[in-house]
Amino acid sequence: SFTPQMEAKNSVMGRENCRAKGGNPGFKVAILGAAGGIGQSLSLLMKMNPLVSLLHLYDVVNAPGVTADVSHMDTGAVVRGFLGAKQLEDALTGMDLVIIPAGVPRKPGMTRDDLFKINAGIVKTLCEGVAKCCPNAIVNLISNPVNSTVAIAAEVFKKAGTYDPKKLLGVTTLDVARANTFVAEVLGLDPREVDVPVVGGHAGVTILPLLSQVKPPSSFTPSEIEYLTNRIQNGGTEVVEAKAGAGSATLSMAYAAAKFADACLRGLRGDANVIECSFVASQVTELPFFATKVRLGRTGAEEVYQLGPLNEYERVGLEKAKEELAGSIQKGVDFIRK
Ligand code: NAI
Repeated sequence: SFTPQMEAKNSVMGRENCRAKGGNPGFKVAILGAAGGIGQSLSLLMKMNPLVSLLHLYDVVNAPGVTADVSHMDTGAVVRGFLGAKQLEDALTGMDLVIIPAGVPRKPGMTRDDLFKINAGIVKTLCEGVAKCCPNAIVNLISNPVNSTVAIAAEVFKKAGTYDPKKLLGVTTLDVARANTFVAEVLGLDPREVDVPVVGGHAGVTILPLLSQVKPPSSFTPSEIEYLTNRIQNGGTEVVEAKAGAGSATLSMAYAAAKFADACLRGLRGDANVIECSFVASQVTELPFFATKVRLGRTGAEEVYQLGPLNEYERVGLEKAKEELAGSIQKGVDFIRK
């Protein structure tokens, strides 16, 4: 009898032979937490990305179902599924890019920091796997609280002797997508024409939109600045409350993660001027990690840009952001060191 698994296996082998004969090899991408709310949509979007040749979908539940489903899309990437801790190493071996949306999401009334207890351990385990099986891969970390989990990942990699600060990227793209959307609404523009730098971190007051640097150059009234800053900082909570217990942003997050991953892959390919905001190791402030615009290249975040001129409102916001960020980063460091 011919099972769907055999069919998948045969088509994988056939296509890999085909690829071995020439053409663009593409990149190998793993998604850890692929069966989750973000993970499933992100798997779909990465299967559609022409820069991906091999897509590894890993989760502790339901990975085979998501894999079988996505594998029927007639796009180029070959898809393989991996279920449970025993298959983590196979999922990671040989990967160029590892995207991590594994972990629990918020429910109404929770802060991202409330997720720390569960997600810190998940991120630690997964990053130990990365250090062992694909130490040169770029890591896109989505699991919250990003302000702490990036520090956790860095400590894991340092312990393993594999830490390359350019390759560890906290994903803040959704904050930028929201900022572009809300600002475009106020300005009456198409969001695709708007570029809002969002710096700092990924939680509440640490999310700092720089409205003075919006492109195209725009001015806002004090009440517009107040409204936009609050809405951008609380965009996640807006979704958590609307979903009323069913989780946090998954669709817009998968979109944002796919956009950021695509930028990382274009950087790896050697494209010029690939610039995105990301929470990375940084000397822009006195903090060890900070989100700003970065230039993505063949080795990861090759250039971390300065903040540029801030107005008084933004300078006050920056001090608040730094105060909270310092504690969140330290909490992540302590989780591994203590
Ligand atoms: P979800 O609960 O729908 O999915 C999480 C998935 O992770 C599940 O399939 C689960 O089985 C899996 N998982 C749990 N432990 C795992 C392990 N040890 N190894 C591999 N997979 C494991 O959650 P959702 O909505 O997809 O959110 C995932 C994470 O992304 C949450 O921490 C959430 O806070 C965060 N998030 C981050 C955003 C950002 O802007 N960076 C925005 C939205 C959510």
